[in-house]
Parts: sequence; structure tokens; C-alpha cells
Amino acid sequence: MDIPLIKDVLNSSNVGREITLRGFANSVRSGKNNIFIILRDPSGLLQCVSHSGESAFREASEITRESSIEVKGILKEDARAIGGYELAIDAVKIFGIAEPYPMKKGHKKVFLFDNRHLWMRSPKVTAVMKVRSTVFESIHEFFNGNGFYEIQSPSFVGGSVEGGSTLFELDYFDKKAYLSQSWQLYAEAMVNSLWKIYTVAPSFRAEKSKTWRHLTEFWHAEAEIAFATNQDIIALEENMIKHVVKNVLSRNQDELELLKRDQTVLKNTVQKPFLRMGYESIIDLANKNGLNLAYDSDLGADEERVITSKLDVPVFATDFPKKLKPFYHKPNPSDSDHVLCNDLLAPEGYGEIIGGGQRVDDKETLLNRLREDGLNPNDYRWYVDIRRYGAIPHSGFGLGIDRLVMWICKLPHIMYAVPFPRTPRRIYP
Ligand code: 4AD
Ligand code: MG
Repeated sequence: MDIPLIKDVLNSSNVGREITLRGFANSVRSGKNNIFIILRDPSGLLQCVSHSGESAFREASEITRESSIEVKGILKEDARAIGGYELAIDAVKIFGIAEPYPMKKGHKKVFLFDNRHLWMRSPKVTAVMKVRSTVFESIHEFFNGNGFYEIQSPSFVGGSVEGGSTLFELDYFDKKAYLSQSWQLYAEAMVNSLWKIYTVAPSFRAEKSKTWRHLTEFWHAEAEIAFATNQDIIALEENMIKHVVKNVLSRNQDELELLKRDQTVLKNTVQKPFLRMGYESIIDLANKNGLNLAYDSDLGADEERVITSKLDVPVFATDFPKKLKPFYHKPNPSDSDHVLCNDLLAPEGYGEIIGGGQRVDDKETLLNRLREDGLNPNDYRWYVDIRRYGAIPHSGFGLGIDRLVMWICKLPHIMYAVPFPRTPRRIYP
């Protein structure tokens, strides 16, 4: 069943015609002689009016804010109303009367997220979710258009990919199991038969760092490619981000405007080449902007905020010191203290949205790297096997989709980018 939407019926050819719309009462204003109801549906808002003495007036006067309704009436042009049109109500059907609605302007963040199930309905949250939808759609579009197979990995796993400190542990019958931090290790097995693969799935991290960019459950778009180098994967990441941002700019103008998003940097992201800087140059840039980092400092939310706040395109930070990255990163053959990796940092202070690079493809190096990271090679037997039977060079990356949405919409916290965010402090609603 197709319900007509406000944006589809608001045009001059419908003026004088009777139309029927469904939605929620975004606001209700009653006077002695008339009632103004702003109707809201997924596409927008429309002012509807009922005058006393008309047949629908009694029913219309029962409508409260956020009641769900169907209205039938004649469309009129009205320059004073939002969108330039008004509906003169002839008939009203009420699906559900709303009790006094708790959401008001000026609520604090905690109250808003405690009521996320209601706050969802607001035009701003709806706009973010529409952009989010375009982002997911565009990621699938990009990979499907570039010859990738979509394939899945398990969410229950036996070991860590990204370090033990953020593992969610659970009882798995008589064994310990964990929630997956990344599909990567499984991808490295699957890439040998399919060569170009991707997935879009939730990843889980028991994050102790409570920052504006960390969730405990986040959506992860990951890709792995046979025979690809770090440079190849960097080029692919840039094309993917350009594709996604270009689609948002062309499909979500209304939403970006409603969110008052300045679009200069988004346009640059589509049009200009991304920057590429080695780790040491990134540290120099941080220190030029007032930090005091050593050449082996890890970069967190605060450091990346400083590094990227003045940039107007994304930057690839490459070739980190080995000790800052997990075991699977391939050491640079000409400088074994550094690994062939890249983090893509979003501009405007947002920082890392992608982590990727070239994988260790040799058994002995992998065994040494596992031991150096304090891991037991016996727990990674199957992963080591991949290097035992016809190892190939390969590379991949993981994009934090929620972080990308946060940056595209220029939101102050990652929680705003997610329908029902999960953080150390929040599992309700
Ligand atoms: O840099 P990370 O940890 O890399 C990996 O997981 C690789 N195994 C991916 C791969 O090569 N297949 O995570 C990748 C991205 C980060 O750049 C970030 O955008 C996002 O995932 N991310 C998070 N997003 C929200 N909340 C968290 N706690 C996140 N942790 C990582
Ligand atoms: Mg990372």
C-alpha cells in the first residue's frame, strides 16, 4: 500500500483538489474560531486548518500534539504557511490520541536520549537518519559497482583482532567467547577464494575510553582484497568516501540544509585529492598546532581533533610505528619498525573514520608479531594456516559508518548519528 506523502502532493497542480494525508500532529494551535495543525510525515510538514462551524471542527479539536491522524481536505496556496500551502480540513480520522507529550525545546542530552524512542520523530533526527540511509545505500552501491562479493563473518569469536582490552567476553556454554571487534581475520581466509570482498555489519568494543566518538556497538563496513598493497587500498578508500559524500550532496540537500551543515568541506571531499602524510609529518603538524607529542605517541580523539581541525579535506595518516598497531599489520620491508598502514582522518576536527593497511603474509613474521603482542599463537592456528598454504599479499580496511555519518552531518557526538546508540552508560531504550 502506498500512502501519499506531503512532498509529493505539494504542487500547484493539486491546488483546489481534495487530498488525503496521514501523519502525526507536529503541533496544534487552537483559537476560538479555528484550529491549526501542523501535519508531519516522513517527507515534511503541512499546515492544516479547521474553522468552527465546519463539519470536521469537533473531531479536529480532539487532536493533541503527536496524535496520529488522517486528514482529508482541499489544498490551497498560502504564502504564510510552511512550504507555501495549507490544507482546509474536510474530514479527520484519528488513529491514536497522544497523551501530553514530554518532548520540549531545550531538554538536556540525557533526557533526549532517555526518550530516543520519541525524539526519533523530530525533523532533525529524521534528517540525520535519512543521510544515514544514503550512506549505507552508497557503500553497498560502491562495492557492488566495483566487483566485490558481499560476505559475512561470525559475531561470536574465540579471540581478539584489535587488542584484548576492548573485548566483550561472554559465556559460550563451557567456553569463553567474545563479540567480534572486526571481521578481518575471517576476511583474510575468505579473500583467498573470492579476491574482492566486503561486509557491512555491527562490531563490538568494550570501550573504556568514553569519548564523543566511541560506541560499544558500531556499524562497520570492511573490505579485503587479494594482491592489493597499502597504496591500492588507500586509493580504494578515497574513491569510496568520494562516492558516499557525492551521493549525500545530491540526494540529501534538504536534510543538509535543515541541519544547517556548511557544505564547503563536503564539496572539497568530492572534488579535491585527499592529503597523504606519513606518521612523523602528522606528529609535526600536531606539534605545530600546540601539542607536544613524541614520535611514538598514539593518536586519540583529542590529538586528532587538533590535527584535523583546520583541514578542509580528509587526510591519510600512513606508516605508523609498529608498536602502535595490532599484530596483523605488515612491517615495511625497508623499515621494519614501521608498518604499511593507513588511518583516514576526517577534517573539521573529526579524526579517524577508517583504519586499514597491508597484512602480514609470511608465517614466521606473523608468529613473531603475535608473540610480541602477548597473544598465544595456538589460539590463532587457523589464521596462521592461511600463511602456510599459499600465502598471498593482501590488504583491507574498516570504515566506522557511524563516525562517517557524524562527520557528514557535523554532529557534536557519535550518539546523534545512531538510531539507538550503545555506550558504556547507555543500553536503554
Ligand atoms: O581502526 P580499527 O580498530 O580497525 C579494525 O578494526 C580493522 N580490523 C579493520 C580492517 O582492516 N578490516 O577500526 C576501524 C574503524 C575505525 O577507524 C573507526 O572509524 C571505527 O572502525 N571504530 C569505531 N566506531 C565507533 N565506536 C568505536 N568504539 C569504534 N572503534 C572503531
Ligand atoms: Mg584504528
